[in-house]
Amino acid sequence: MPPSTIELPGTFDDPTYSADIVSAADFSRISKLAYEKFGLNLKDGKQALVSARVGKLLRDQGLRSFEEYWNRIQSDRTGEALVSLINALTTNFTSFLREPEHFEFLKSVIVPQFAHTQPFRVWSAACATGEEPYSIMFTLAALNATLDTRLLATDISTRALEHASRGVYGEEQVQALPADWRPRFMLRGEGRSAGYFKAKPELRQRMEFRRFNLIEDSVPPQKFPVVFCRNVMIYFDIPTKSNVVGRLSEAILPGGYLFIGHSESLSGVQHSLEYVKPAIYRKVKGAA
Ligand SMILES: C[S@@+](CC[C@H](N)C(=O)[O-])C[C@H]1O[C@@H](n2cnc3c(N)ncnc32)[C@H](O)[C@@H]1O
Repeated sequence: MPPSTIELPGTFDDPTYSADIVSAADFSRISKLAYEKFGLNLKDGKQALVSARVGKLLRDQGLRSFEEYWNRIQSDRTGEALVSLINALTTNFTSFLREPEHFEFLKSVIVPQFAHTQPFRVWSAACATGEEPYSIMFTLAALNATLDTRLLATDISTRALEHASRGVYGEEQVQALPADWRPRFMLRGEGRSAGYFKAKPELRQRMEFRRFNLIEDSVPPQKFPVVFCRNVMIYFDIPTKSNVVGRLSEAILPGGYLFIGHSESLSGVQHSLEYVKPAIYRKVKGAA
């Protein structure tokens, strides 16, 4: 079984680490809140790292005690305090063409099956900093230039979404793409932007970036031949996964697919999807 706890960036050498600002009781309050609001399952072993992250938030906001921070969260009506908390608690690790089997399956099975469904919509449902939705867009553009592709890319983290929406990536990151895709699908930065790449506007304009909380927001009304929801459910417990998979299934066309991360599992999760192969599930034809 994969771990179901959240992996946080940072180490104990982090200069922001300070165990005394966030006590064990405070950690319990944060864990409960993170579970209720975002579905994050923060286990006890993560207390030091969570404390370091929350301790840094306190300092950045000029607060002197956890109590002050907690009062701010409770009284905030703008949602901003929760946004900064989720930004601090999640890691947005991703990469171009991560888990390449999914991109092969998209080309060889899903496009032939749904090419007549125009526009051809794909939802990248925890898109982090955008490498996943851009990889999907480039894969489809390389396969069939006439396909009217529309990408919906969502994440809970506003910080990650800003990066994704800007869509600027360094040379090292785009190395993972086939070399001929860069000139075909990306603009190369010049001058101060040398060494950076971004998607060409004609592709970027077919992509929408939007905040979406997998555990509570209403799924979009459009239906998708495929939804990517990869490497996020590892943070969720079984009841949360059941809720998320159930609601994502509503957004999938009958006969369409759900991709999850290869290190994730739906075992024990209640769902109506058919197992196809590791990390690939299908909505049965005739299902609502
Ligand atoms: C490790 S990244 C995965 C990125 C990409 N899907 C991939 O596989 O490379 C996990 C992402 O899930 C997002 N996330 C965590 N909880 C979420 C929630 N409740 N709703 C939506 N996104 C969430 C995080 O902000 C983070 O960007």
